[in-house]
Amino acid sequence: MAQSYLALGYFLDLIGRLKVATFVELGIHVGGMAAIMSNCERFADWDYSYLGVEINPGLIHLKVKKHAHLIIGDCFDKEVVNAIKGFVHTRGSPAVIYCDNGEKRKEVIIYEPILRSGDFIYAHDYGTEILDEDIAFLYETCDRLDLTDLIEAKVVGFRKR
Ligand SMILES: C[S@@+](CC[C@H](N)C(=O)[O-])C[C@H]1O[C@@H](n2cnc3c(N)ncnc32)[C@H](O)[C@@H]1O
Repeated sequence: MAQSYLALGYFLDLIGRLKVATFVELGIHVGGMAAIMSNCERFADWDYSYLGVEINPGLIHLKVKKHAHLIIGDCFDKEVVNAIKGFVHTRGSPAVIYCDNGEKRKEVIIYEPILRSGDFIYAHDYGTEILDEDIAFLYETCDRLDLTDLIEAKVVGFRKR
């Protein structure tokens, strides 16, 4: 799994504290994070769903394939974006979109417009694969979550106003 314990702890806390309705992970690789985030469906006493998106199905662990909601496809493909939008918008709030494929900058550009007020967008590898200039446009519609935990986890996050 590509996440630090700090990032996992942060997201598990967020899901429980805010009763997150949907957690979307863009780029799941083997599915280490997917296994944890989808498993929350079994324990949440509110309507919570996980959705993972991966372009290369051969990478995904069989148990994740069997148990998690997945979309196999390119997260920049219009049909995939619409399917994710449909998944998020037919469920409650807030939704979390976690950008973790190879092109975080492009992901935040494509996925910010599907956020509703109160939804979150995060990107992994802040400081290396996504830089301040890549996220500057988000300040127009979102508030930045300036938390030490997030920065230490190399994650940057925003919440739509
Ligand atoms: C850094 S890994 C994800 C790690 C995972 N989030 C975790 O925490 O275990 C990036 C993944 O994104 C996938 N990917 C790359 N481009 C993609 C695209 N356009 N659409 C969907 N997935 C993509 C890659 O195949 C790879 O498995």
